[in-house]
Amino acid sequence: MQTSTTQVAIVGAGPSGLLLAHVLAQAGVAAVIVERQSADHVSARIRAGVLEDATVSFLTEVGLGARMQAEGLPHEGFTLIYEDLAPLRIDLQALAGRSVMVYGQTEVTRDLMRAREALGLKTVYEAEDVAVHDIQSNRPSVSYRLAGEAYRLEADFVIGCDGYHGVCRATAKATGSLREIERAYPFGWLGLLADVPPVSHELIYANHADGFYLCSMRSPTRSRYYLQCRLDEKVEDWSDERFWSALAHRLGPDRAAALVQGPSLEKSIAPLRSFVAEPLRFGRLFLAGDAGHIVPPTGAKGLNLAVADIRVLSRALVSFYQTGSEGALTGYSDLALRRIWKAERFSWWMTSLLHKFEGQTLFDRRIQAAEFATLAGSAALQKALAEAYLGLFD
Ligand code: APR
Ligand code: PHB
Repeated sequence: MQTSTTQVAIVGAGPSGLLLAHVLAQAGVAAVIVERQSADHVSARIRAGVLEDATVSFLTEVGLGARMQAEGLPHEGFTLIYEDLAPLRIDLQALAGRSVMVYGQTEVTRDLMRAREALGLKTVYEAEDVAVHDIQSNRPSVSYRLAGEAYRLEADFVIGCDGYHGVCRATAKATGSLREIERAYPFGWLGLLADVPPVSHELIYANHADGFYLCSMRSPTRSRYYLQCRLDEKVEDWSDERFWSALAHRLGPDRAAALVQGPSLEKSIAPLRSFVAEPLRFGRLFLAGDAGHIVPPTGAKGLNLAVADIRVLSRALVSFYQTGSEGALTGYSDLALRRIWKAERFSWWMTSLLHKFEGQTLFDRRIQAAEFATLAGSAALQKALAEAYLGLFD
């Protein structure tokens, strides 16, 4: 067993882990990341694409703004559609004076990985059998195997940035003081990425009689589309042709006239889930990002919540090392959970409004349509929606 030490041991090199390590490095706090997958695997994952302005500001503040500002697409609004009712454009700028930025999580991750490489900082990739120990002591540690060798990394703190299926929440669960609160939805999203110009220059979220669809993008030449699908469907059953024709049908002839089809670069099915772990701290172990909470993607909150967690947690850790006080660390869980629950509420509401629910009665469907019509008729409700989409602050 080879033992090493650091100040902060981070499990998981997704956006949460990489961003935390980046901010800590800037403040002179040593951190090592232990990641189960390879660097290539991590940098190739296709995930979310919409950044709140608070996310853009924080990434810019910590020196990660250059490529995002040059290549990201500022969006001043998006459109909601409910069956054949008149489409509703949510004018974010006019309603709330702010915009979002369309810039893929894949690009955020690559920017973080490059910044880390440039500083020569250590990430252990392809670690096996990762386990967390002694979280109730002042000397917690992370053990793992690499190329058959056993390692132990001792630290002051362990931060679980290892996503929904990670080992850190499982370790927290073993303390007996973790509560898991969740709702699973009876459908998924089938996503397709293609190098074709987007059908619309802004995002379209729609509830069609066949189910939800979303028209999004990564750039003026790369589109990202989603269709609501059943949970028992297999991606192999969805040829590109089947996907494009289902999307064209849901778009309707007028909008579909502008749809450019092309071969998929990626196609996958993701289930929709709302999930919160309470609390987010167990002794010297903290949870952040998807390890602590999941939102259905309808509100575009997943990555933004992860960045907001790291904004609070990184400041708390830096304050601990600068002042010796645990005050900010003690406040992390409650502060983060207040924001997380607001985003959970918003994501659940967007999901409820925009999807077709199996077994939905005519009453349910009419109520859903009336919810949309009420929103369309109320500047106040649209403003509340714009504010929630733009970001719910601490
Ligand atoms: N040991 C080490 N690493 C692990 C382990 C483990 N046992 N289990 C998982 N990991 C790694 C995964 O391989 C992944 O690289 O932890 C990382 C978690 O990354 P994400 O799932 O991307 O989670 P996070 O960094 O919190 O990012 C949140 O991702 O899914 C989206 O909507 C979400 O956009 C949000 C963002
Ligand atoms: C995406 O582009 O992948 C995307 C955009 C908005 C969402 C979810 C996903 O709400």
